[in-house]
Amino acid sequence: METVVHEIASGIYRLSTFVAEVAPPAGFTFNQFLVLGDEPLLFHTGPRRMFPLVHAAVGRIIPPERLRWISFGHYEADECGAMNEWLAAAPHAEVAHGQTGCLVSLNDMADRAPRILKDGETIDLNQGRRVRYIDTPHVPHGWDAGVLLEETTGTLLCGDLFTQLGNDRALTGSDIVGPAIAAEDMFDYSSLNPGMGTTIRRLAGLAPRTLALMHGPSFTGDGAAALHALADDYDRRAAKLLPETVRMVNA
Ligand SMILES: [Fe+2]
Ligand SMILES: [Fe+2]
Repeated sequence: METVVHEIASGIYRLSTFVAEVAPPAGFTFNQFLVLGDEPLLFHTGPRRMFPLVHAAVGRIIPPERLRWISFGHYEADECGAMNEWLAAAPHAEVAHGQTGCLVSLNDMADRAPRILKDGETIDLNQGRRVRYIDTPHVPHGWDAGVLLEETTGTLLCGDLFTQLGNDRALTGSDIVGPAIAAEDMFDYSSLNPGMGTTIRRLAGLAPRTLALMHGPSFTGDGAAALHALADDYDRRAAKLLPETVRMVNA
């Protein structure tokens, strides 16, 4: 296994490890994103066993001990399995996550107390960079789920949203909605709920110019259109399963 590094937006690096054994024959990527600044932030730590690879990849960009913030979509091994390894490697690093994630898991599981972020709260990384935390409970899964928007470049660090199989380019302008629908059909990984379309459309309102996928390429282009199309697909799925509930929510 190797971890490759690409800059997908100004000062935002995608660290990508392709694992052929997951979902063969297409395989699956595990991506972390390093956002530069005086206070560099890593979104997703990678699984614990991938720590040496990810640590070395971060080391190609900055001294790893300079890392200041660790954040991720939700509490799961591929999102945050190496959280405590990172807290040990970077003495000034803090985990930052939403209230639910901190109260339910991180206050106990993280070796240092996490910073609790309110929905919409920002972290100033300095050098003109700021990330905004947005709660997305149960979307695509996890009560504690959330995403980060890097405001200068309009990059949405969107975690498991748009998950796709295979190992495409680091950055694409091609359709990411079709491959995401195919992966959802295959894995059933989302906590399908009647509010899902609404939660995803709220992210479309941020008009992101880059979508940084945890499993798949990063997308450059009309992020809002892609999010609307994804929201429509989840509404379609929810309407099939929960017709009466969806009718009431949309009334
Ligand atoms: Fe996940
Ligand atoms: Fe994931």
